[in-house]
Parts: sequence; structure tokens; C-alpha cells
Amino acid sequence: METLLLPSNEESLSLAADLLRSGQLVAFPTETVYGLGANALDPDAVLSVFAAKGRPADNPLIVHIHDRSQLNGLCAVPDAALPLMDAFWPGPLTILFEKFPAVPDVVTAGLPTVAVRMPSHPVAAAMLRTCDLPVAAPSANSSGRPSPTLASHVLEDMQGKIPLILDGGPCDVGLESTVLDLCHGAPTILRPGGVTKEMLESVLHTEVLLAGSILRPLKPDEKALSPGMRYKHYAPKGQVTLVEGDAEAVVARLRELYRQEVALGRKSCVLCFSEHMDVLRDCCPHDIGSRNDPREIAHRLFNTLRALDEEGMESVFSEVVPPEGVGLAVMNRLGRAAAFRVIQA
Ligand code: TXA
Ligand code: MG
Repeated sequence: METLLLPSNEESLSLAADLLRSGQLVAFPTETVYGLGANALDPDAVLSVFAAKGRPADNPLIVHIHDRSQLNGLCAVPDAALPLMDAFWPGPLTILFEKFPAVPDVVTAGLPTVAVRMPSHPVAAAMLRTCDLPVAAPSANSSGRPSPTLASHVLEDMQGKIPLILDGGPCDVGLESTVLDLCHGAPTILRPGGVTKEMLESVLHTEVLLAGSILRPLKPDEKALSPGMRYKHYAPKGQVTLVEGDAEAVVARLRELYRQEVALGRKSCVLCFSEHMDVLRDCCPHDIGSRNDPREIAHRLFNTLRALDEEGMESVFSEVVPPEGVGLAVMNRLGRAAAFRVIQA
């Protein structure tokens, strides 16, 4: 199949809507990452999303809408969700709802809940408006690769597998949406993202819990609240190790680890804050962004992880950010890329 990569304009949006209505797949930009969309009400179309990504069938998809009235056909909306939708929709917040039978089981992997979000990216919004369908869309990467934050990343993974990629430039947030569970007692973040725990608490006026496996691997007997947590995610091909401690000790340890690897003949690099690029200039440094700007670090992270693969890096050593605010989302993704391997400096 030929894969068209088109700039987003009226013509390509209308093509996207035709493809979605006829059960085909379209990759499109959102403010978080690129999504791989299918008509959420068409089980065969949704099945082909799983096939194109190589995604396990037990990992449910997020349904994207452009207007709240679309919820009427999809799920029951509890009162607690209303202030959250007022505050954060459109935007990078996904909310779990009790699903109605109209939502095919393939979308939710048989779960009784459906995850829904309203993206704020103008191209996503225009595409959803034009087709006027709820669109089930996971991130548009092959399963196990970092999520795509550029149309070219989508092309790398999806060329020949889907008919159309809409190019909307680089994604603003750079990490996937926050996934919030309101269906099982206290509000719980299943996946941290651009809408932070602190932001949710300021609207809900109650404590928001964090799923246990956000900053550590699942225990062998632990049930995943969100199926996506079970899978090795965001994994570059090389081995990533995180180095924690005070700044000076971390810099010294990064240099030592880098030199050890190079001496063993392994292609190695360090991921460091902008502030450390100069002191680590002899360690193949990659700038992850300023230590004072976790949003910038989030914005760059997946692009950096993909670059490591292109450069054929075998061992990578990275600084860490405090797991607060957007830093929590960064550490969730970086922790998983590193299979939670951490060294204390
Ligand atoms: O920002 C995003 O959310 C992007 C863009 C494209 O919207 N989408 C995205 O989708 O990241 P995906 O499929 O890569 O991640 C969806 C996550 C998975 O971890 C999945 O397990 C979880 O949401 N999820 C979906 N439905 C769920 C449900 N009913 N219960 C628990 N977790 C659910
Ligand atoms: Mg994904």
C-alpha cells in the first residue's frame, strides 16, 4: 500500500474523513503525540489498528472526540468528570468512563470502561469535525517504539501499512495524555502526562492517587490498572541506565560510565541537561533540555530516544528530573525506557 504524507489542508482533511468513513486508517497530529485513527464504531477498522502497530489485543485504545455531545452515544458521564472536562478539554487529559454497548469490545479490549479524550490540536479537531465520528487512536508508532512526535516518525513506522499521514508539524507536549480513572473509587492517574496531578487536584479539590507502577515495574502478581503498563514501552534498542544523585556527583559518574563503555568498544552517549552539555562535551552528550524546564524535556524526550536508535547507541546514561509536575510523566517514560535501571551517583 502506498502511504501518502500530506500537509493538513481542506483537501487532505476531506480525504482523511473519507478514509475513516470507509474503515481505513489515518495517522494525525495531536498536541501530545501522533495518533493512528480508525472509526471507533467499526470493529474491523479498529482491528486493523492493532495489526498495523503489532499491538497486543488486550491493550485498549483511546477514543477521540471533538464535541462533548458525542459522549452520549459512548458512555455514562459522572458528575465528577464535568469540572475536569471544563478545565482540561480540549487538551491532554484522557478520562475513563463506563462504556455503552455501542462501543465495540475490540476498542476497550473487553473492559467495561472506555477511555476518551478531546484533543486540542487544530488538525486533530478539524479531522474529527470533518468525519464526525468518534476515532479510536493509539499512538502511531509500532508497538514497543517511542511514540511519534513528528510526521516523519510515523512514516518510519507505518510506511506501506496505512494510506494517509496528515502532517501537522512537531507535537507540542511530546508525551502522551494523562490517563485518569474516575470509575474505581478515588481518582487515580494511570498514566501521567501534560495535565499533572497538581492541576487535577486543584480542580477536584481532593487527593488524586497515582497507580503503583508509574515509577517502578509491575510486580509479578500485581494486576495492571491500565493494560498498557504491562508492556515494555518506549524502548530504544540500546540499554538505557538512569543516574541519580546530586548534580556534581551525577556528572562525574556519567563521565566514568561513558568511558568504561567506550573502553569496552561499545557505542555510548550521555543524555544530560543543557546546563551540563559543556562539562560533558567529551562524552557524546545529547541535550535533553534545561533542568529548570521539565515541559521542554518532555517535548524533546521521544525525539531523543528515536535518535539513539538511528545513531546505533548501545549504552546510554541519563540524568533524571524530580518526579513532580510534568517531571512525573518524564520519569515514567524514561524509567520504562531504562527498564527502571537506576544507579546512585
Ligand atoms: O496522548 C495520547 O493519549 C495519544 C494520542 C494519540 O491521543 N494516544 C495514546 O494511546 O497514547 P495509546 O494507545 O498509545 O495509550 C493508551 C493508554 C494505554 O496505556 C492503555 O492501556 C490505556 O490508555 N487505556 C485505554 N483504555 C483503557 C481502559 N479502558 N482502562 C484502562 N486503561 C486504558
Ligand atoms: Mg502508545
